[in-house]
Amino acid sequence: MSGRATRGFLLALVGVVFAAPIDPLRAQDPEAEARSTLDGVYTAEQAERGRQSYMKACTECHALAWAVGDVVRSWEGASLYGFFDVMTRTMPESNPGSLRRREYVDIIAYMLQVNGMPPGEQALSTGSSRLRQIIFRWSDTP
Ligand code: HEC
Repeated sequence: MSGRATRGFLLALVGVVFAAPIDPLRAQDPEAEARSTLDGVYTAEQAERGRQSYMKACTECHALAWAVGDVVRSWEGASLYGFFDVMTRTMPESNPGSLRRREYVDIIAYMLQVNGMPPGEQALSTGSSRLRQIIFRWSDTP
């Protein structure tokens, strides 16, 4: 192969490798093995603050009951960061990203709580790398 052809081939290969995951946010995150949503990853006070933010910013379009079930369940196996990332970039639909980072994380705590995931001693962190280390699990998953 000429130098130019080799370079073209290598660039094509890189393209394939990086294009491979179709929806990386929902894919199993290899770094996210340390903890799951069943390990008490938020506090009850945090979930209560989250409920209040949700009432203010979200119930205009999403009923309280909407937060229970499939909307969270569809993230099974993904990290909290993926959920946080989609939420902060797209919601509230009328004004995406308008809440503080802290408020979004509190809302996630609320959504974990209404889906039966237990509270714990430590509040859910707003740090991206911390959120990446927690994966969605359900109590009825083996
Ligand atoms: C102006 C209307 C509106 C507001 C306000 C709003 N949403 Fe949404 N949201 C939508 C629509 C429309 C969809 C897409 C259809 C659906 O899933 O119900 C959606 C989808 C979502 C999803 C699903 C994303 C996915 O791909 O799994 C989440 C999570 C979400 N909203 C969270 C929130 C939160 C949290 C708030 C408050 C901070 C909020 N939304 C406020 C209209 C809104």
